[in-house]
Amino acid sequence: MKKIIIASNWKMNTNITKTESLCNSIKVIINSNNFEDVDVLIAPPFTNIYSAYSILKDTKVRVGAQNCNDNQSGAFTGEVSAEMIADVGCKFVIVGHSERRVIYNESSDTISKKLKQVLTNNLTAVYCIGETLQEKQSGLTNIVLANQINSEMNGILPNDLKKVIIAYEPVWAIGTGLTPTLLEINQTHSFIKNHLISIYSKEALTVPVLYGGSFNEKNGKEILFLPEVNGALIGGASIKEESIIEILKFSSEIEA
Ligand code: PGA
Repeated sequence: MKKIIIASNWKMNTNITKTESLCNSIKVIINSNNFEDVDVLIAPPFTNIYSAYSILKDTKVRVGAQNCNDNQSGAFTGEVSAEMIADVGCKFVIVGHSERRVIYNESSDTISKKLKQVLTNNLTAVYCIGETLQEKQSGLTNIVLANQINSEMNGILPNDLKKVIIAYEPVWAIGTGLTPTLLEINQTHSFIKNHLISIYSKEALTVPVLYGGSFNEKNGKEILFLPEVNGALIGGASIKEESIIEILKFSSEIEA
């Protein structure tokens, strides 16, 4: 069986009631299907992490955060550190999401520091990279991805790669209902993997590459079947109960 990672990014959605309902439904599915080859990750908003964790702590589902600060601790009003995220039971943090890059002007330097905070605190980084529509149309996709990796993963040691998951998320596909073709997704994932191997050699072979951007219960199965795809990072469809349940069900049946 192919190993699959299904990661949910709830963004700034849900409240405690919705968190409990989603987590309880996910727990039922996980307990009633064979999830041996599927890792399930959920990133609720900070305020809902503890309720998600309380429900899921005895399951294989890993709860994580959508962001962290790039410093270890200190006078950073309103911010949350990777250490605090680990302390509340989280196992991973999403870093480099395009909404953080674009809306909050996160630079490559900040993203690089965040990656290091996450890894230093023994958490896994779900590190997002992706090109804009303009970059895609100019044929720059691979160059953009390579540049992001080169600058943002600079200083990350081969040994740290065990705690890195890459999410390829074309910016133009996030929340738009658009996706690259299956061939494009597979080729881009292959490019990312080969680029990592060119930097880290064989240590990079363990780094999973997830697809993200308008992944849902309708288009998801064939994306997960692609040989270079190791799972998905899901936004909109991850907070619709029927959608995420359907996605989890077919993920547990992928044999490619
Ligand atoms: P989407 O978001 O599934 O709603 O397109 C994906 C993401 O932002 O991670």
